[in-house]
Amino acid sequence: MSMRPLLALSICSEVFPLIKTGGLADVTGALPAALRPHGITLRTLVPGYPAVMARLAGAERVLEDPNVFGGAARLIAGTAAGLDVFVLDAPHLYARPGNPYVDTLGQDWPDNAQRFAALAQAGAVIAGGMVGGFVPDVVHAHDWQAGLAPAYIALSEGRKPATVMTVHNLAFQGQVPSSLLASLRLPASAYTPDGLEYYGAIGMLKAGLRYADRITTVSPSYAAEICTPEGGMGMDGLLRARAHRLSGILNGIDTKVWDPARDALLPAPFSAGDLAGRGLSRAAVQAHFGLQPDSAALLFGVVSRLTHQKGMDVLLESLDAILGAGAQLAVLGAGDVALQEAFLLAATRYPGRVGVRLGYDEALAHRIQAGCDAILVPSRFEPCGLTQLCALRYGAVPVVSRVGGLADSVIDANEAALAADVATGVQFWPVTPAGLRAAIARVASLWADRAAWGRMQARGMAFDVSWAAPGKRYAALFKEAVPF
Ligand code: ADP
Ligand code: GLC
Repeated sequence: MSMRPLLALSICSEVFPLIKTGGLADVTGALPAALRPHGITLRTLVPGYPAVMARLAGAERVLEDPNVFGGAARLIAGTAAGLDVFVLDAPHLYARPGNPYVDTLGQDWPDNAQRFAALAQAGAVIAGGMVGGFVPDVVHAHDWQAGLAPAYIALSEGRKPATVMTVHNLAFQGQVPSSLLASLRLPASAYTPDGLEYYGAIGMLKAGLRYADRITTVSPSYAAEICTPEGGMGMDGLLRARAHRLSGILNGIDTKVWDPARDALLPAPFSAGDLAGRGLSRAAVQAHFGLQPDSAALLFGVVSRLTHQKGMDVLLESLDAILGAGAQLAVLGAGDVALQEAFLLAATRYPGRVGVRLGYDEALAHRIQAGCDAILVPSRFEPCGLTQLCALRYGAVPVVSRVGGLADSVIDANEAALAADVATGVQFWPVTPAGLRAAIARVASLWADRAAWGRMQARGMAFDVSWAAPGKRYAALFKEAVPF
């Protein structure tokens, strides 16, 4: 267990505010500040996507390689949007439209294996001590895109910092053909079931889970779920074998970005002591989504990827319960084309009661959290989930499935919890139309008692969703992983 200040390298495919497709970016963006008070300096290695290159300042070229998967690559050290970064500038791999993983038509980039292997290799080079002035004690790899980094480090001859693999979502596994073994510079001897091999392919996430010194995931419940055949998505055997190395740390959110008292994206600020400003956001959301300007109607909100994981098909099947309770629904999201179309259709079918905006809109996400009475998160599985944490902070009552980080962050308004004055939201299970309809009916009956609702809202707003506690846990884990 190390007591000295530590240097750590975070390897990830997205980081807020430079580039974000989901909660992964929020977490990698928040960790450097969360670890700093504990004497840990965390520097983030990201691909040089156009959005990253555009914001890079004080850039210094630290390494160069004329041929990384068919083109020249430079490793640049600098700062971007307040983050200390290493950027892998390889235009032939990263200077593309679309998002980090897919083209503008939503198809995976065909060379994703090479694009993220290059990132992991750059991380392993830094880990090996090749960048003067930054020799990390810990390498922190996030999700399958960085999964090869612990393998490259473990299988190399060079120095070996402690490695930590964090799973944000086990559903995305990065399986690539075994024919790429040599070109990805992976030793054939490691291509075994106890090594890199995963169902006849190279498993990039599996590699991280197999070779990292420590494995973490983003909530204690998800850590337990992924060790079971139902939640393990094929990795549960390996995870059970390494359970002594696995732990769950619930995410926080950036309470400066998500601060209702100082949020410039809202029509008016508010706080637990003075909720008046919430009313303005509520009216703004109703106006924006074309909902009836009814101040008594229970207003549900959704900010989500529109996918099967998030239970959005179940929500569509449960709309009758929302309408039957005289409630309204505002949905902001993007994702599966069929779900997008089904939500648009619902908005046309129930004008004034259901409103839908497709796309990604940070400002609108803040207004929905500030204006809706309740936020629906009916996920089939959810490693952590951040929108329910934002909801707690903004006084929107979270209505969540009892799974993963949702189960760990919301206290269900059952009779005992209400009597003890500890409830902060509603949990339900199973994720079926019947399960969600029953939850919506419970929310409607809770809403009928406005005084009790207000107390539940206030308790949620007082709940600590910051990075203070998780920052301390990651710091302890890093220090424990470094032996001296
Ligand atoms: P996931 O990463 O699985 O999509 P999380 O709940 O962990 O789910 O994180 C989602 C993050 O993305 C949150 O910060 C949420 O506010 C944001 N988000 C999701 N969809 C949208 C959207 N359509 N517009 C704006 N923000 C969104
Ligand atoms: C993934 C998970 C989500 C989690 C996020 C950040 O996107 O789906 O549950 O909150 O990563 O860890």
